[in-house]
Amino acid sequence: MGPDNQLRVFRYVTDLKCPSDNSHSENWPGLSERVERIFLHLVRDTGVYTFNMMRPRFLIRSFKHIQASVFSSSYLHFKSGRISQACKLKAMSTSSRPKVFVTRRVPEDGINLLKEHCEVSQWNSDDAITREELIRGIKGVDALFCLLTDKIDEGILDAAGDSLRAIGTMSVGYDHIDLAACRKRGIPVGYTPDVLTSATAELTVALLLNVSRRLGEGVEAVKDGSWGTWSPLWMCGQGLDGATVGILGLGRIGLAVAQCLKPFGVSKILYSGNSEKDEAKQLQAEFVTFDELLKKSDFVLGCCALTKENIGLMNKEAFSKMKKTAVFINTSRGGLVNQDDLYEALKYGEIFAAGVDVTSPEPLPTDSSLLSLSNCVVLPHIGSATMKARNAIFCTD
Ligand code: DGY
Repeated sequence: MGPDNQLRVFRYVTDLKCPSDNSHSENWPGLSERVERIFLHLVRDTGVYTFNMMRPRFLIRSFKHIQASVFSSSYLHFKSGRISQACKLKAMSTSSRPKVFVTRRVPEDGINLLKEHCEVSQWNSDDAITREELIRGIKGVDALFCLLTDKIDEGILDAAGDSLRAIGTMSVGYDHIDLAACRKRGIPVGYTPDVLTSATAELTVALLLNVSRRLGEGVEAVKDGSWGTWSPLWMCGQGLDGATVGILGLGRIGLAVAQCLKPFGVSKILYSGNSEKDEAKQLQAEFVTFDELLKKSDFVLGCCALTKENIGLMNKEAFSKMKKTAVFINTSRGGLVNQDDLYEALKYGEIFAAGVDVTSPEPLPTDSSLLSLSNCVVLPHIGSATMKARNAIFCTD
């Protein structure tokens, strides 16, 4: 790994204890016994590189490679990943306890964990922090804990100043963070993959079934009295049995969704993305071009991370290539979809129905044209909203 391929985003080191300063030498006693799993995510310009089961020595060597000067006088303590990735940095500022700014009210356990090692300041509200308050709060801190609602760009990093050594986001998505700017400044960014994979996959399947089998419309019909006598073609939807499912982005979540859908009897799973995935083989999933996926799929599922390259990917042209009977589901990021084009496609029967858990903006204004459609279900970004997943994101075990 050369200096150009620098580590910029990494996930968690389970119960990694750093015995003392300058302990990046390869002789941490007993370290490997205490570490169950270490995943390192390397982000280069093009994406995230994942190395599973990394040994501590490799991690340490990587750190040395990348940030020898920083790491020799400071270190990060990530405990059990998640919010509990308590940053233990020997501050290069005047205080011996590193300062961490948290951008939202989060479960007490997470904050208490941070407090064991750090001086914590917090935007103690359930509402998203304003840019002004973020600029005020981040000034002079050593680490930032943010949410997907906080845009961390050059301006915010400038406001933080030289002291900022690490950023953790309580999300698997990190499109709200300017990684290039962090990379330039040598600031590693932590995030929370895996812990919310099942929850998000489950929600994706729930939304798909809801939309394709018209559950919302059915419930509404019962309530408003439009449920008449049993009728052969009334409320007919699209089934999964024998269907072709196309997944945009066969990452962790895409893969989990594919696994969940298999038992419904789908005949084919297609996927598109940057590259073919080894994991796809176990599902006999086929790597195809974006165009092919659109044309052949009965269900098109947005499960990919949002990048500069795929903003607005699902636009008029894309919807026009889909089958008229196809269902579109998006649980990734709202930015993947041109919502005006989605509205047109749904309204004029270019596609059968859509379900989106993510929109742009969020919250979606209540006068959005999407909400006027009976063949569109919009959920309020609740993909990871199970107690188990949220606790895993925020807290220790
Ligand atoms: C994430 O973590 O990025 C998800 O969108 C939250 O549900």
